[in-house]
Amino acid sequence: MPVLVVVGAQWGDEGKGKIIDLLTERVDIVARYQGGHNAGHTVVVGMEEFILHLIPSGVLHKGKQCIIGNGVVIDPAALIEEMDGLASRGIAIDENLLISRNAHLIMPYHKAIDVANEKLRGNKKIGTTGRGIGPAYADKISRRGIRMEDLLEPDIFRDRLATNIGEANFILERFYNAPVVNQDQVFEEYMSYAQRLKKYVTDTTLFINQAIAKKKKVLAEGAQGTHLDVDHGTYPFVTSSSPTAGGACTGLGIGPNTITEVMGIVKAYTTRVGSGPFPTEQENAMGELLRSRGREFGATTGRPRRCGWVDTLIIRHAVRVNGFTSVAITKLDVLDTLDELKICVGYEYKGKLYEEMPSDLSVLERCTPRYITMPGWKQTTIGIRKYGDLPKKARAYIEKVCRLSGVKPAIISTGARRDETIIMEQPFKKAVKTPAPRGKKTSAGR
Ligand code: GDP
Ligand code: IMO
Ligand code: MG
Repeated sequence: MPVLVVVGAQWGDEGKGKIIDLLTERVDIVARYQGGHNAGHTVVVGMEEFILHLIPSGVLHKGKQCIIGNGVVIDPAALIEEMDGLASRGIAIDENLLISRNAHLIMPYHKAIDVANEKLRGNKKIGTTGRGIGPAYADKISRRGIRMEDLLEPDIFRDRLATNIGEANFILERFYNAPVVNQDQVFEEYMSYAQRLKKYVTDTTLFINQAIAKKKKVLAEGAQGTHLDVDHGTYPFVTSSSPTAGGACTGLGIGPNTITEVMGIVKAYTTRVGSGPFPTEQENAMGELLRSRGREFGATTGRPRRCGWVDTLIIRHAVRVNGFTSVAITKLDVLDTLDELKICVGYEYKGKLYEEMPSDLSVLERCTPRYITMPGWKQTTIGIRKYGDLPKKARAYIEKVCRLSGVKPAIISTGARRDETIIMEQPFKKAVKTPAPRGKKTSAGR
């Protein structure tokens, strides 16, 4: 019953799409468990680049089942656009996609409220993607959300829409002084989406659990990253869902005991989009260099990503809250030209040294990072496929980051393409390990 959960260890955009696409070969099902089309997961196949937002990053492989789980919030217009975009590039979306009946819908008023709220916050804004993610999850938690299954029942949908749109329009008009949303228009629009999407909608929790019982392998795809998690991230500068590994259980309806591995995706440096604390941020030529070499511009909004040094405190926090069994280090090649590299090992604030990440936002916002410095390797690592072929100084950097963070690297990514990868340990090794024969002493029994 192996389930592998893939989670971003930082603030998103760690390169999850690339690693998930790579691991899809080894699994039967790829299932997204949270977030919405705020995500942008890039997969490069040969010369072609695909950016997935809602559809699992496993979709480029034939014969793999992709699932959008109950924990995801779906803007049907965005989903249909993504399906059409893939189809126009020869990627068929048919029986290979299933959508949970219980996934909540993003409605046009969610988007309008998201945008209006950011505008009102001014320089205190979260820097959301403006996709309506927060308001959609707020309605879900307030028990008035509209789900995929409601979309398939016109009378129920009409009724729920009428109740919700009244309140949403009141807030839009009276509180935000923003344009309201037309109920009849939304109804007609969403009914046309229902026609298009109904064949994909099913009880995905039952499907996944039955597959797990048949020993199918499942990859649970996380979007965003640990520090954008609504509970464990840099609140309130977070998204409104649970990207951390526990989110896979609630977002797909699987028991924690079905999870055999949790892989953290760790970028070899750090980036963040939107507002919020970022202790190792480099608002200088170094940050510019990382941005241009790493092509650090949002895959969803095109915004320039904030860039900085790797931070072992935030990785250690991610290890704690996710229980990583291994990590994939991505974008090592971006660091190829640097003379020296800094690794954050602590924060100093008001005379105190923090060696573990504090949850206190004011410390994170004002602390001075304490670094160690490593020499750069000053040669290309692009496309290297064997660990031993990496320059010695690059290996020393990886080993130092991993040791300080308390993680074990299973994969090192040396380029955006599938083949630009070093595989040190195959996932699911533990799950497929054959038990010791009866009577023979295992190391645990000694
Ligand atoms: P995700 O949201 O975690 O899936 O990450 P994004 O797709 O938003 O951003 C990662 C970017 O880095 C994409 O443009 C990828 O094509 C690219 N990428 C992934 N791995 C590597 C790598 O090892 N080296 C380089 N140079 N680019 C990479
Ligand atoms: P992937 O899956 C990076 C950020 C936004 C903002 C905050 C809240 O590609 O890693 P939201 O629209 O979710 O309410 O915005 O979260 N954010 C991301 N940052 N990668 C993402 O997804 C993100 N999804 C949301 O920039 O700071
Ligand atoms: Mg992304």
